[in-house]
Amino acid sequence: MIDNLLTQPLFLCGMMGSGKSTIGKTLAQKLSVPFHDLDHLIIKKSGKSIPEIFEREGEESFRQIEKDLIIQFSQTADGIIALGGGTLQNQQITDHVKLNGWLVFLDCKPDTLYNRLKDSSDRPMISSLSEEELKLKITTLLDDRMKFYEQAHFSVECRDKDVDTILEELIQKLKFYEQKYRG
Ligand code: S3P
Repeated sequence: MIDNLLTQPLFLCGMMGSGKSTIGKTLAQKLSVPFHDLDHLIIKKSGKSIPEIFEREGEESFRQIEKDLIIQFSQTADGIIALGGGTLQNQQITDHVKLNGWLVFLDCKPDTLYNRLKDSSDRPMISSLSEEELKLKITTLLDDRMKFYEQAHFSVECRDKDVDTILEELIQKLKFYEQKYRG
């Protein structure tokens, strides 16, 4: 356990399947801080599952709910917050998140993401896609989103690493950033 390392909230960004929730939960335990998952906050606030929101109201409506929530929540958030893969929709949201805490990018390559996502059933962006369609969707989404992910304060490369190794690297970088910019 590492107490008192985090002086401001830490937002995890990256594609679906990059491990934001898994890493976020374990990191929060290690640092003895709360963990929040933006998808769960959306579900709680709307009273609907994410596939339900996409199905009944469409992606645009989901993005509006997501945007309103992250803008509001990031101002009072504490601990570790796992964003959704598409939360950093534009520069305004990216700037806003960065002004309110550390933004950390879990950098996973398309082949890793594909292996993790091919059996996923609860993600409306990729449900019912063929193998080829899923591969194309992953690269297209990554291409669109990279310009925001890349603006993170720092990133952790995730290829072929287990959770403990990723956490170790993340905590080392966090210690450096906390000391250099907040210490
Ligand atoms: C999405 C990612 C999901 C969820 C929604 C849309 C995306 O979150 O917000 O299904 O556009 O990449 P995870 O990244 O936690 O899977």
